Amino acid sequence: MSRRSCNACSGQAKRAPEVPTGQIAPRLVLGIDFGTSNSAAAAVDASGQLRVMPLEADRAAMPTALFFCHETQQTFYGSQAMQAYLGGTEGRLMRAIKSLLGSALMDEQTVVNGQAISFFDIVVLFFKALKARSEAALGHEISHATLGRPVHFVDDDAKRDALAQATLGRAAQAAGFAHIAFELEPIAAAFDYEQRVRQETTALVVDMGGGTSDFTVIRLGPKRRQQADRRSDILATTGVHLGGTDFDRLLNLDHVMPLLGYGHIGKEGRAVPNSLFFELSTWHLIHHAYTRKSLHFARELWTSYADLSLHARLMDVLENRDGHRLLAAVEAAKIACSESQGSAAIDLHFLKAAQASGINGHAEPTITAPGMAATLGQALAQVVKCARQCVQDAGLATVDVVYLTGGSSVLQPLREAMQAAYPQAELVQGDRFGGVAAGLAWAGFHAQRN
Ligand SMILES: Nc1ncnc2c1ncn2[C@@H]1O[C@H](COP(=O)(O)OP(=O)(O)OP(=O)(O)O)[C@@H](O)[C@H]1O
Ligand SMILES: [Mg+2]
Repeated sequence: MSRRSCNACSGQAKRAPEVPTGQIAPRLVLGIDFGTSNSAAAAVDASGQLRVMPLEADRAAMPTALFFCHETQQTFYGSQAMQAYLGGTEGRLMRAIKSLLGSALMDEQTVVNGQAISFFDIVVLFFKALKARSEAALGHEISHATLGRPVHFVDDDAKRDALAQATLGRAAQAAGFAHIAFELEPIAAAFDYEQRVRQETTALVVDMGGGTSDFTVIRLGPKRRQQADRRSDILATTGVHLGGTDFDRLLNLDHVMPLLGYGHIGKEGRAVPNSLFFELSTWHLIHHAYTRKSLHFARELWTSYADLSLHARLMDVLENRDGHRLLAAVEAAKIACSESQGSAAIDLHFLKAAQASGINGHAEPTITAPGMAATLGQALAQVVKCARQCVQDAGLATVDVVYLTGGSSVLQPLREAMQAAYPQAELVQGDRFGGVAAGLAWAGFHAQRN
């Protein structure tokens, strides 16, 4: 698609808000939920009042996204970043940067606006923006933070997992937080839920977000929330590196990538090599598909195709850097399908080759509720297995409540599977995007008091 100039962005990049310096509130701890897809922050003030940071106008959560505008060299954050990219502004979008934590890619340099910058520094930039917005809302500087972390940043690799947490802490420090603590995201979600619990309850907390699905079985109650040390209430925690971004990948591979040649059998009877299609379907790897080496590889792939219109479409996507746009269209259709329980077309109007040839005469790719359940079936089964493991690790047969939070937790097949697993339990849908930050704020508040 044609790129537009930066004027196309809705408004200018937010300038760092003015913060009165020298006014540090020593007891205020910012709870930061740095999510794969969305981030949020909250704090509990000295009077015990929860204050959710309005990170974007009056919205609590902001997309974990940065956009480096080529024309003006400005950096946009959150929704502004998404709007700039999706509006066709020339530049570079970064999403799902949390997924890079614990990997060697973190120290890799990438070029944005003619300058080499490491992915670590990109995380620092995001933290700085989040800190500045929170300080602007509070009216003073803030030096203490409680950071959320998934049960496993990296599955089955304790060393890389520890590296991921250390990197996250270093990034927050580099952004200006002097005192940092960590809390598991599902436990934070439980602390938020506990504010509304009126009686003793044993809950299975399910936090299914963009990158990971995390669980805890925990005892909650009005009296318990007064206690400083909650270790004995936490009966088990489990987690798996599967979430909404994986669902986007699976749906993209099923519905869109075949239009670019994924699974296509060439003249020689062999399928087109598939590495590029996987990169284009994985939020944090898309930029790899645009390197000079990748583009060269992709150009040479034409010999593997029997239908060259598919290859032309692949080249169009790569040369126009439409990878994020494609995946965002798949994600939007996933959400629409999940909400309507009907079907949703994947809007590919921006694909030049698609316009010209009507996507090879095929109907617009469409996600249907049963189709989505089938595509995600295996991944969801793994998530449910991990949830059941948590209850088993807690030494229980069932729980009183299954508390669901995180953007992906509204997926109907997940809800049905959880209800089927624990038929006597009450299914409670929590605040999908702000609960973890609120719980981190409570954790920080109690830690400061004790
Ligand atoms: N209605 C919906 N149905 C299904 N999925 C949804 C819906 N709304 C949002 N999502 C998905 O939820 C995910 C984002 O959820 P959330 O903001 O809780 O994740 P996160 O906290 O950023 O990630 P993580 O905690 O895993 O690091 C995205 O993958 C998004 O596509
Ligand atoms: Mg989350």
